[in-house]
Amino acid sequence: MSAQLFDQAQAIIAEIEAAEPSTPEELEAFRIRYLGGKNVLKPLMGQIRHIPNEQKKSYGQLINKAKQLAAQKYQALKEKIARTAEQAEGQNLDLTAPPEPLELGAMHPLTTTLNRIVRIFERIGFSVAEEREIEDDWHNFTAMNTPEDHPARDMQDTYYLRDVPGMLLRTHTSSVQARVMTTQQPPLRIIAPGRVYRNETISARAHCQFHQVEGLYVDEGVSFADLKQTLLYFARQMFGQHVRIRLRPSYFPFTEPSAEMDVSCFICDAKGCNICKYTGWVEILGCGMVDPAVLENCGIDAKRYSGYAFGMGIERQAMLLYGINDIRLFFENDLRFLQQFRAAF
Ligand code: PHE
Repeated sequence: MSAQLFDQAQAIIAEIEAAEPSTPEELEAFRIRYLGGKNVLKPLMGQIRHIPNEQKKSYGQLINKAKQLAAQKYQALKEKIARTAEQAEGQNLDLTAPPEPLELGAMHPLTTTLNRIVRIFERIGFSVAEEREIEDDWHNFTAMNTPEDHPARDMQDTYYLRDVPGMLLRTHTSSVQARVMTTQQPPLRIIAPGRVYRNETISARAHCQFHQVEGLYVDEGVSFADLKQTLLYFARQMFGQHVRIRLRPSYFPFTEPSAEMDVSCFICDAKGCNICKYTGWVEILGCGMVDPAVLENCGIDAKRYSGYAFGMGIERQAMLLYGINDIRLFFENDLRFLQQFRAAF
């Protein structure tokens, strides 16, 4: 009886050694026969009670040897069969077939406009300061001389972080003025491009998120004439050498005096069209001399230094440059819109 069992185990080992499954189906049959839940080695192991004690050990080792052999062979063949399947697939590839056409991306028109503005100011010595969109109350409002009861601070106008008191989504890039002036000493000459947020009803002309470029220049003896000349240079570089600018008195809490700047309508050459609402002028930015109180808030000696600042919206300028009549198009990621800007740079 015992010799017979030894023979059977040997026979299975020989069988495993001789087996040559070559397809996934044959391999699976191999697995089930020698390694599955009801494999052929199990009943043999069950017979161990018929083996005399002194031979039990070598019998067990023989069965284990069979198991290990099956497991090794299974692993090796599994990899080999998978490789063969891959190669077979590769042989079906038509290497001469023309490739799928490459879809070229395009710069977003806002990025293009923003880069253009940044480059114009870089040429005259401004460097870029980028700052956080989640701001604290102090940098966005208090430092910028915007009193507690100012309507801009209203929940209706500003997005506050519900769970973090005193934090908000910046409503303008003027917050970067405070960031720069509290960490660096004059002379300062920076522009700060970036996204800002206001709780506006979304329409063709307004959005709750948009982009601005802030400019700030602080040094000894900076005057309004410097501001005007810089803005004229910008307007001409941006919209053409023939454009004129117009500064209208205005009000901002952080500049004194303050102004808004219009450029002569370059769409109709100031003759009057529906873009300039038949006035010949389009408003581009707000500006003014940095209020001495703002300098002092940020730790800059207002008796020694003066400065100018300006802030411009990007969307409006991109709409003018590209003839886009709905601000929402910028934020919808509609490929039919975006693909039209492939040639822009
Ligand atoms: N922060 C102002 C706005 O968002 C623009 C501005 C910037 C005005 C700097 C004056 C000086 O409307």
